[in-house]
Amino acid sequence: MNWIGFVRLLRNIYGPGLPDLDAIQRQGLLAVKIGQVFALRIDFLDQEKCRHLANLYRNTVRTPSEEVRRLLKLYCGKDFLRHFIHIDDQALASASVGQVHRARTSTGDEVVIKLIKGDFKKNFVRDVRSIKRLFQTVIFFYPKLRSVADPVGILEHIEDYTLSELNLLNELRGQNILRNISLQHRDTYNLSRLRFARYYDELCSENVLVAEFVPGKTFDELLHEGKLDYEALLELFHIHGFYMFCVGTFHGDIHPGNVILSNGTICFVDTGAISRVGDKIRRGLFNFFKALALWDYGECARCLNSMSERELEGRSFEQFREKFIRLYADFTRSTVSQVSLTKKMMDTIKLGVHSGMEFEQGMFGIIKSLMYLDGMVLRCNPHAVLLHDMRRFIEETEQFVVKS
Ligand SMILES: Nc1ncnc2c1ncn2[C@@H]1O[C@H](COP(=O)(O)OP(=O)(O)O)[C@@H](O)[C@H]1O
Ligand SMILES: [Mg+2]
Repeated sequence: MNWIGFVRLLRNIYGPGLPDLDAIQRQGLLAVKIGQVFALRIDFLDQEKCRHLANLYRNTVRTPSEEVRRLLKLYCGKDFLRHFIHIDDQALASASVGQVHRARTSTGDEVVIKLIKGDFKKNFVRDVRSIKRLFQTVIFFYPKLRSVADPVGILEHIEDYTLSELNLLNELRGQNILRNISLQHRDTYNLSRLRFARYYDELCSENVLVAEFVPGKTFDELLHEGKLDYEALLELFHIHGFYMFCVGTFHGDIHPGNVILSNGTICFVDTGAISRVGDKIRRGLFNFFKALALWDYGECARCLNSMSERELEGRSFEQFREKFIRLYADFTRSTVSQVSLTKKMMDTIKLGVHSGMEFEQGMFGIIKSLMYLDGMVLRCNPHAVLLHDMRRFIEETEQFVVKS
């Protein structure tokens, strides 16, 4: 994708009417990934557009079954197929890089086989390089863009997690990281509703994964059918909040298609990207959200300042604090549809940066997670006063944050 392609992509996304998803997919993997990021931006795109763009997470072009068999032979050799008595021709799901098929092993286990759909790496790396150059040129003429929107940072983030996703062994590693963390802490934090699928390590490689089939539906499917229970969503917050705030190592792509609700338990899939955040941001954000849940905006302002690499002092902090309190004037007891949490977070970061704060890069990973979660609540229970409902988790999480 060159700059003309990039402008075409933006016009497609921002233009009148709903974006043309086929056109985005024809532009290649980077365009799809950018489209997915825009699906989260309910702070400046209208909700219907975001919902439409969210289809880029699942309704993607499917690779036909003959091609799937050819790819499996190419990736793993003929012997691989001998491990299975049946492989479904119809894909269970197809996303931007992978396609998932149900299968049964020769020992009778119900599994899924996930494979990389094609050779994306070369074009993706080339497109990232050319768009990065474009952004650097724009920033040269408009330096403020770097601190407010940080397009190069976002692009690098997309590059990181997509390259990581293109090697399925990273997904296996991600599963092990998240599972080990849960085993380590299961006696001190309630993770009873979290489960992990078994992976068949000996059959997994860079291009193919074999894992236990987890019965149930993804949060995305349930939201689509209007059947996601708000309590299950709060439980996802509880579990993901543990990884983000208590540990600082968490699922880096927690969109609703990557979480399965299986007999009341929550199972993470697609763990190719694990995000990490330092202690300063992890603790600072927890304290920020705790104060927000208690509608204590003065304390929120102090917490945000504590997360900055360069803290504001004296008069400049006071000015920031006043503006912050004004920004949150409409927040107390408002529902997620009345005041968008995503928009508030973006405005908060903008206000902080304009006032002179600087935040660690890892911050974007957490913000992205929160945007996904906010988007899910908006679809599941638009009348929820989310921050108020989160109060129930404060005590358990705080005990952990203080100790760790
Ligand atoms: N272990 C599993 N058991 C059942 N369904 C699964 C499993 N893993 C993935 N899926 C289904 O396949 C879809 C795509 O899988 P995912 O790992 O997210 O791949 P992608 O990288 O293509 O997004 C999921 O949204 C889910 O519906
Ligand atoms: Mg996925």
